[in-house]
Amino acid sequence: METLDLMLLVVVTVVLAGTNAAKFGEAQLVFDWEILELDWPSEADKLEAIRNGSYVPERNLLAGIKVYKNNVYLTIPRWTWTSGHPITLAKVVSVQGQSKLCPYPNWTAQKQGDCHALQYVQSMEVDPNTGLMYVLDSGRVGGSLNLCPAKIVVFDLNTDTQVHSYQMPEDVVTRTHNAMNDIVLDYVAGKVRYAYISDVSEGRIHVYDFQTHSAHNLEHPSMKAEGNNGTVIHINNKDYVFGGAVDGIAISPDFKYVYYCPLGGYSLYEVPTSVLRNPNNSGTAGPRLVGRKVSQSDGLAHGSNHLFYGALGLNAVYFWDAEKDMADQNVGIENVKLATQVELVRNDTTMVWPDTFAFDDQGYLWFVANSLNTFRNPGGNPLNRVWKVFVNETGYLYEADKRTLGTVVG
Ligand SMILES: *[C@@H]1O[C@H](CO)[C@@H](O)[C@H](O)[C@H]1NC(C)=O
Ligand SMILES: *[C@@H]1O[C@H](CO)[C@@H](O)[C@H](O)[C@H]1NC(C)=O
Ligand SMILES: *[C@@H]1O[C@H](CO)[C@@H](O)[C@H](O)[C@H]1NC(C)=O
Ligand SMILES: *[C@@H]1O[C@H](CO)[C@@H](O)[C@H](O)[C@H]1NC(C)=O
Ligand SMILES: *[C@@H]1O[C@H](CO)[C@@H](O)[C@H](O)[C@H]1NC(C)=O
Ligand SMILES: *[C@@H]1O[C@H](CO)[C@@H](O)[C@H](O)[C@H]1NC(C)=O
Repeated sequence: METLDLMLLVVVTVVLAGTNAAKFGEAQLVFDWEILELDWPSEADKLEAIRNGSYVPERNLLAGIKVYKNNVYLTIPRWTWTSGHPITLAKVVSVQGQSKLCPYPNWTAQKQGDCHALQYVQSMEVDPNTGLMYVLDSGRVGGSLNLCPAKIVVFDLNTDTQVHSYQMPEDVVTRTHNAMNDIVLDYVAGKVRYAYISDVSEGRIHVYDFQTHSAHNLEHPSMKAEGNNGTVIHINNKDYVFGGAVDGIAISPDFKYVYYCPLGGYSLYEVPTSVLRNPNNSGTAGPRLVGRKVSQSDGLAHGSNHLFYGALGLNAVYFWDAEKDMADQNVGIENVKLATQVELVRNDTTMVWPDTFAFDDQGYLWFVANSLNTFRNPGGNPLNRVWKVFVNETGYLYEADKRTLGTVVG
């Protein structure tokens, strides 16, 4: 290439990079489905599934989301209806230009009643350092069918194979009441060591130790729904009652604190991972009230800098400017109070019920907005929207393998 051409190319590339650069807080609607289109083996299978009731299209709603290498993974909880949800974990695929949900890793792995398969998946976590996806399966369907024990199933997203399955002991996660809701991973010495799982029904945090293959709980009154109308969520001029216990869960990128909140309440709490990791902890010491959020939240997510959370009553996503609060209050992270809450995005029609969050490696925060409040009503239609917002940070797990190499438990 001539030098001049080369220079032109450089100039053009720089200009393009400049105009393409996303701005902080800029949101893009990535998917907008009313009816979730599944990637069926054939049209005949789809029609038969609708006919025999195993697929009720308008009863399928998204909740969980994770993103890995340009692929989007979503969950379809088998909530309070015992049929009509043929799949519970999916990957988005493009079929003749249309985005559809392909059962992940396959159809067999979704079979209701087969305890080797997934029964009910609300959420999962993806470790960007290994490509492993840690999937929560409560084992229960429709709030009353206690089909299987709860488990954590691990898939390798690079090979699309199941690599582990850990059954949760019944004295830690009950077979009859659990609703394992969301999961964060804790790194020690360069590896995933613990999973912390919020249980919105049992109202406690389950801890799984991947090294000793043992599990225990942390229980505390802060993990229950609050009084004083904390369970009444005011959305677009209507009151909805959600009495859920601990639901949102997040962990700081230094793996020192876990943040959590009940669905039915405004309070944000933190607990040191040193307390969670210890199987002998009684739970009475440790949790600290960080402050009152602007609204109730479903999902929480910690990026490399900020804690993000849904503000259900405001149809918005917020983040906590903890650095400013530490400077203003002249305290460290262990004592800082939640004060500076910043609205990231809001839309009263298209961002109703920001449910679960994910990060990619391009600086975007992703979330599902599913209007769960209206869906729950009789005749409520599903609204399945997937957004991504530029926040210029990555998730808490980014390079955690390198960052935690020198650490030890204690
Ligand atoms: C309903 O149809 C689907 C698709 O053909 C099939 O996989 C499923 O086993 C059927 N279920 C029942 C209960 O007959
Ligand atoms: C489906 O996935 C499960 C779990 O990874 C695996 O055990 C099974 O062999 C797969 N089935 C098919 C037909 O690929
Ligand atoms: C709870 O909400 C009801 C109905 O909006 C209201 O009458 C009552 O005063 C509220 N109670 C508290 C403790 O805020
Ligand atoms: C917990 O208690 C048991 C029984 O007293 C003890 O053997 C174990 O070392 C303790 N574990 C930790 C992490 O302190
Ligand atoms: C909310 O989204 C709707 C539909 O995309 C759009 O028309 C409206 O301008 C948005 N509202 C705000 C405040 O951005
Ligand atoms: C993103 O963050 C980097 C530093 O972490 C900064 O240099 C850059 O200006 C930020 N970009 C935007 C668009 O905010």
